Amino acid sequence: MKTALILNGPNLNLLGTREPAVYGAQTLADVEVLCAQACATHGFALDFRQSNHEGQLVDWLHEAGRLQTAGTLAGVVLNAGAYTHTSVALHDAIKGTGITLVELHISNVFAREDFRHHSFISAAARSVMCGFGVAGYALAIAGLAGMQTGF
Ligand code: DQA
Repeated sequence: MKTALILNGPNLNLLGTREPAVYGAQTLADVEVLCAQACATHGFALDFRQSNHEGQLVDWLHEAGRLQTAGTLAGVVLNAGAYTHTSVALHDAIKGTGITLVELHISNVFAREDFRHHSFISAAARSVMCGFGVAGYALAIAGLAGMQTGF
């Protein structure tokens, strides 16, 4: 069974209380349950993580590269939070490892402030999705399942 690695960046630990009009009322623990259900549906093991630290996310992407090379990783869903808009290091880590990665945002970043319109992740990602609320996590896992069969 392959693993779906779900990585969450800064401030996503505050889901549920953080700007609920933008991000909804569900907590990160709720999102983990939702991801577990999606992984069960698609035959993946779930590895779900969150960090507020850019270097930790880089290290986890490197780990993902090793797992993908070993054939045990289906892919990564990355919500890099605000690092999406600032981090050349995350861009380089995705490019450098060659991992299959879905960039995800809960909100529609293009309907928000201008500084959220640019992503350093998108050019290195296999797929990009935003604006589906936390349901997007399950959709992204379904997307990873499609990729296993050649999509
Ligand atoms: C976010 C959008 C980012 O612009 C923001 O900095 C976040 C969350 C989202 O999930 O909508 O922290 O990635």
